[in-house]
Amino acid sequence: MSAESITKYIDDNAQRFESEYFDWLRIPSISTDPAYADDVKKAAEWIADRLAQMGLKPEMIETKRHPLVYAETPAVKGAPIILVYGHFDVQPVDPLDLWTTPPFEPAVRHGSVFARGATDDKGQLLTHVFAAEAVLKETTLPYQIKFLFEGEEEDGSESLTEYVKKHKDKLACDCLVVSDGSMFGPGQPAVTYGLRGLMCFELTLTGPGRDLHSGVFGGAVYNPAIALSQMMNRMIDENGHIQVPDFYKDVVPLSERERKQFADLPLDEEEFFGKIGLKKGFGEKGFTSIERRWARPTFDINGLTSGYQGEGSKTVLPSKASAKFTFRLVPKQDPAKIVKSLEAYLHSLCPPGITMQLDYQHGANGLLVSLDSVFVEAATKALEETFGCPPFYTREGGSIPIITLMSDVLEADVLLLGLGLDDDNTHAPNEKFSLDSFHKGIKTSARLLQEIARYQKMRKA
Ligand code: BES
Ligand code: MN
Ligand code: MN
Repeated sequence: MSAESITKYIDDNAQRFESEYFDWLRIPSISTDPAYADDVKKAAEWIADRLAQMGLKPEMIETKRHPLVYAETPAVKGAPIILVYGHFDVQPVDPLDLWTTPPFEPAVRHGSVFARGATDDKGQLLTHVFAAEAVLKETTLPYQIKFLFEGEEEDGSESLTEYVKKHKDKLACDCLVVSDGSMFGPGQPAVTYGLRGLMCFELTLTGPGRDLHSGVFGGAVYNPAIALSQMMNRMIDENGHIQVPDFYKDVVPLSERERKQFADLPLDEEEFFGKIGLKKGFGEKGFTSIERRWARPTFDINGLTSGYQGEGSKTVLPSKASAKFTFRLVPKQDPAKIVKSLEAYLHSLCPPGITMQLDYQHGANGLLVSLDSVFVEAATKALEETFGCPPFYTREGGSIPIITLMSDVLEADVLLLGLGLDDDNTHAPNEKFSLDSFHKGIKTSARLLQEIARYQKMRKA
């Protein structure tokens, strides 16, 4: 099939692609909540079915938790292998009352579809599946496509981690293609060459064996909520500098060249912060907001829990206090070293009469990939042809832990082709995805495959 007829096929089927996408969005595949385990499975079955309709023979791979879905087109000797990764699990939806329309009833407003999972990652993942459907109208392909989809990304990718380590040969590829992030801005496509790593913790402090009357005992007992605030206060200073000993030891300083590239990007800070209801940002002293988000490590508290949270006041001295917190890491920082140093630091801060428990939930290194690859060249052309302008080369602040592992284990190039926007409300109420990006994503992916096919011919010649 010619390039024109592939594009025509995609245009002719655009409405059907949308309605199939919306069907998938109706499945509440929340991976972190065991109550939705059946729905995660249904979402897996849905995509496996979809791949089967394209003539592939997908496998549903059972794991200790959520199933994986794998499919491949026929192997072609000597030709490149593309492995498309994505995740079909989604984040929880609370607070539910802040959604304009229900999270699992996709609704279109102003050219975007609103639903949990719209951008992260069902819509982005599907662009590659629909593109493959179009190119598979051809009888034989001059490359092989492998699809690997999981339902545990939002919860640490434990099953896939194990699977990737065990099935290196099966998953062997030249390039890993992932759309699970953002463009630089509306109409500004991007090839992303870096992601941050991540470490997730929960710290629980226990004081008295039960809640106490704060009049009877207050002043004579260490209050765990106060201890927690004091300890959290020692994690980061007023300049945004993390206080854990040796935390910055392995951080590679930004090169002048990269700082200049970031500085040259057309980011309107006022608009960027305005969109999230702020007049200005905040972060580590001496760095711009792009540097802070893309290329500097950070500490964040994600949740604080202690004491009375209901109406009015209650004079209680709580027995427990806990914090969920995370670090974002940059490449070369080693999670294993940081855990040790963090644990010792927190113990040194924990006051008498309080016992602490630190749970390390999961962690992953940051990722930096080379822009010097034929796949980046192919993606650049595909994006340029579809969007009518060349892509921006960006890093991103988010993390996709499994990608770091796969790129190491499979020794493959990585193409991160995020299609979302920073204001897509990922993980928040009213998550959305632009339908224009959805359709352009399908065309980009199809063009990328055609570019890769050309590269193969060139290599053979
Ligand atoms: N797709 C995101 C990661 C992302 C977001 C990359 C924005 C680039 C830009 C992914 O689904 C995600 O949410 N990752 C989590 C980590 C996971 C282990 C919970 C994250 O970054 O917090
Ligand atoms: Mn995602
Ligand atoms: Mn996510």
